[in-house]
Amino acid sequence: MPKTIKKIGVLTSGGDAPGMNAAVRSVVRTCAYHNVECVAVYRGYEGLMQGDFKPMTARSVKDIINRGGTILKSARSMEFRTVEGRKLAYQQVTKAGIDALVLIGGDGTFTGGMIFNQEFDFPVIGIPGTIDNDIFGTSHTLGFDTALNTVVEAIDKIRDTASSHNRLFFIEVMGRDAGHIALNVGVGAGAEEILIPEEDMGLDRLVESLRRSRQSGKTSSIVIVAEGDKIGKSVFELKDYVDENMEGYDVRVSVLGHMQRGGAPSCFDRVLASRMGVKAVESLLAGKTNYMVGLINNEMELTPLDSAIKGKSKINLELLRVSEIMAT
Ligand code: F6P
Repeated sequence: MPKTIKKIGVLTSGGDAPGMNAAVRSVVRTCAYHNVECVAVYRGYEGLMQGDFKPMTARSVKDIINRGGTILKSARSMEFRTVEGRKLAYQQVTKAGIDALVLIGGDGTFTGGMIFNQEFDFPVIGIPGTIDNDIFGTSHTLGFDTALNTVVEAIDKIRDTASSHNRLFFIEVMGRDAGHIALNVGVGAGAEEILIPEEDMGLDRLVESLRRSRQSGKTSSIVIVAEGDKIGKSVFELKDYVDENMEGYDVRVSVLGHMQRGGAPSCFDRVLASRMGVKAVESLLAGKTNYMVGLINNEMELTPLDSAIKGKSKINLELLRVSEIMAT
């Protein structure tokens, strides 16, 4: 018989992502709607172990739907990976009377939550929040859409100066070890080449493609490089290689870095977050645990956490082909 859920905790963990605050808002307000208490857990699993909690009401989450980052802060916790750390966390949630947790984060967050559930039979539901979009069981993770728009805007700005100076730019984008951001912004910003970890293009093909672009009359080029790309050279080494092996190129590098994680969430991410928060809370109230909420065929679906963690988000090969054709 699943236990009655009277108080739900919510935390954010891992790399922050635009839309996390909208998801926190939705969790808190869905609890209020169902007359269930809600508690904010600050600083992810670190705060869980330390009892860094704060009761939340529907009014506690006003004016945050449009804010990037996470008001609950985030942290990557090594101690929670230990049995002692998780025991501490269980003592804290028991003392606080918290019956279940909504975990907003990536696969590392879900792994910790799944183990916590297994050790203490404690209900957990995950909401996928990471700009990488590298989580199985959802077409979109929170923050992905916003990050795409942020990065495309940055690349458009770089293209202005690239075309003014007839330059080749290597632009590194985030994605830890997934090429979803690189592939989408590469197509969206009209890049000549896109280097992603899922498809090792190889240096020779890159050089050949750049030569073809030049022969077709292009005087400036943009090459998007996913930070997890496997071509074996960093963007700076790629610049050096072109400088040393290709005539007539004036090469520059731009590493976009953490600005890709900031900014006000897009409407898409705000709506997605609001839907996911409702689904997560109502799933817990229905006695469900160890699932991740995801967008599948535009519907809110549940995927077992174990599958979400072990699964691999697939790169859109049709988009890869589009990018090749657009580079003509
Ligand atoms: O997982 C999201 C992400 O932004 C990755 O794209 C990136 O590689 C990583 O986090 C950076 O981690 P940190 O913020 O700890 O430097």
